[in-house]
Amino acid sequence: MGPRAIITIDGPAGAGKSTVAKLLAATLGYLYLDSGALYRLVAWQSARLRLDLADARALSEFLEGLQPEMTTDSQGFHLWVDGLEATPFLREPQVSQQSSRVAILPPVRTWVTGKLRQWAQNGGVVAEGRDLGTVVFPQAECKFYLDAALETRAARRRREWQKDETPLSPEKVAQELADRDRRDANRAAAPMRAAADAVVIDTTDLNPQEVVKQCLVRIGEVLPGAAGPEIKLEMKTG
Ligand code: DC
Repeated sequence: MGPRAIITIDGPAGAGKSTVAKLLAATLGYLYLDSGALYRLVAWQSARLRLDLADARALSEFLEGLQPEMTTDSQGFHLWVDGLEATPFLREPQVSQQSSRVAILPPVRTWVTGKLRQWAQNGGVVAEGRDLGTVVFPQAECKFYLDAALETRAARRRREWQKDETPLSPEKVAQELADRDRRDANRAAAPMRAAADAVVIDTTDLNPQEVVKQCLVRIGEVLPGAAGPEIKLEMKTG
């Protein structure tokens, strides 16, 4: 086993971050952290409690009391609140939109950043989001920024949703993503952007295995030893 590094993957929704992060974490034997799920959790739970987000004191008390349990494996990242698994509710379209609204609030960003740093304290982490290479883990040994054409990202998101039978038109999904991109990239606090030292990958014409392969080449360069023999084998056949 090589060094227990921190690897960050940032980029807009539908760029392929989750699939690639999960595959990388499984390949390296690292912990997978999904920061978007934490913003979604804040959006979901604050809506359930009908919290007034403009009330600074109420927001701060709410965040202090929000202590999710986390379990993570190659299949996903699961969050539990008061014994209830929140994960199945977090991908709903209204939670997606609301998550990028709560994400502009500095106390919410501080709360999510704190949780991520706590869970990553022993290293050996692949973490995905919007500001992980820039703000949460600026010291990360290896950073990626994935992007893809809006239409491609919308088509991927739609395919994901269709499994859950959420009927949304391609135009509606593209609009939803574009609205979120705008909010995520233009906010004052920790806007979505590639870190200066991130490797930028356009995934429009790549499948997840091809992206993972590019990432592993880079990881092998920066973290010799992290990529064990089984990884080299996988790259030869991939
Ligand atoms: O990655 P995702 O689609 O699950 O993220 C949901 C929202 O959370 C996204 O629109 C913006 C916010 N987010 C953020 O502001 N910073 C992050 N590091 C991750 C997500």
